[in-house]
Amino acid sequence: MSTAPTPDAPGQPALSIRDLRKTYDNGVEALKGVSLDVSPGDFYALLGPNGAGKSTLIGVTSSLVNKTSGEVRIFGVDITARRDEAMRLIGLVPQEINFNMFEKPFDICVNYAGFYGVPREQARARAEQVLKDAQLWDKADKMSRTLSGGMKRRLMIARAMMTQPRLLILDEPTAGVDIEIRRGMWKTLKEINAAGTTIILTTHYLEEAESLCRNLAIIDKGRIVEQGPMKALLAKLDVEGFLLDIDGGLPATLPAIAGATLLAADDHTIDLEMPRSMDLNGVFAALDAAGVRVRSMRTKTNRLEELFVRLTGNQEAAA
Ligand SMILES: Nc1ncnc2c1ncn2[C@@H]1O[C@H](COP(=O)(O)OP(=O)(O)OP(=O)(O)O)[C@@H](O)[C@H]1O
Ligand SMILES: [Mg+2]
Repeated sequence: MSTAPTPDAPGQPALSIRDLRKTYDNGVEALKGVSLDVSPGDFYALLGPNGAGKSTLIGVTSSLVNKTSGEVRIFGVDITARRDEAMRLIGLVPQEINFNMFEKPFDICVNYAGFYGVPREQARARAEQVLKDAQLWDKADKMSRTLSGGMKRRLMIARAMMTQPRLLILDEPTAGVDIEIRRGMWKTLKEINAAGTTIILTTHYLEEAESLCRNLAIIDKGRIVEQGPMKALLAKLDVEGFLLDIDGGLPATLPAIAGATLLAADDHTIDLEMPRSMDLNGVFAALDAAGVRVRSMRTKTNRLEELFVRLTGNQEAAA
């Protein structure tokens, strides 16, 4: 296929990934054919358990990891054919805090922009702006190691904003930080997004994705297992499933119950799906009226829910 440069034209996705594969030298297939599109202005989450391939995907996108095959474009710019140009469009916030603790936030920001060729005067003006945006201006001249954990994380974001990226990518920006710090960071990120920067973040927390993101992909073992608008996913999560064991046979037609879906799983079992908010009394009354006697019921596990419980390592998603 031709790799002729594509102009950075309006209407291009902020990130477009096609059949991306990565096999590390040790033979681990971290990405097994991932495709996704992120629209300009979007706030996009990549959810997935440990080892799913999230950091590999981010590594390839930001040119830190070489892909095995597939195509990645940032605003239409191919990361292989036009690497430097693609990199200039991206701001990366890695998971680990990696600035010099003995430097001051102002200098950290100015020096970082210097690596990217931003003239010093311009860098100083930008540093003031990004530090103010991150509510760190009063700390600009303090030694960075004296900042709180939350401030250090906001400084990581401020630093990434120094190059005025069109796409900001954050790898688990809030891993291991408490809820208050997380909320403060969410606010900062929402403001950055509202000002026009496309954001992609990886997270283990469904709650975080829910609070911030409009679209998401769930990645597991190097493959995308679910993808789409956050709202659609939450609607799916909001459905509860039961299997009802019936005494005797099922009637020819099952009663229609508004809001619920009833299917014959086999001759003696009804598969019931209904919104979590709906109560079971109405369902049982309708079954009773239809002469259906329920002997026992079991909760049907939801594939997505199982996935989330596994992802979050607790019952948070199921609560
Ligand atoms: N440099 C590397 N060399 C070999 N294998 C690697 C390397 N980096 C990652 N892997 C493997 O690739 C797979 C995906 O790892 P990756 O770091 O992308 O997952 P992740 O989704 O970011 O996980 P986590 O949530 O733990 O950060 C894992 O099996 C991991 O062990
Ligand atoms: Mg990772």
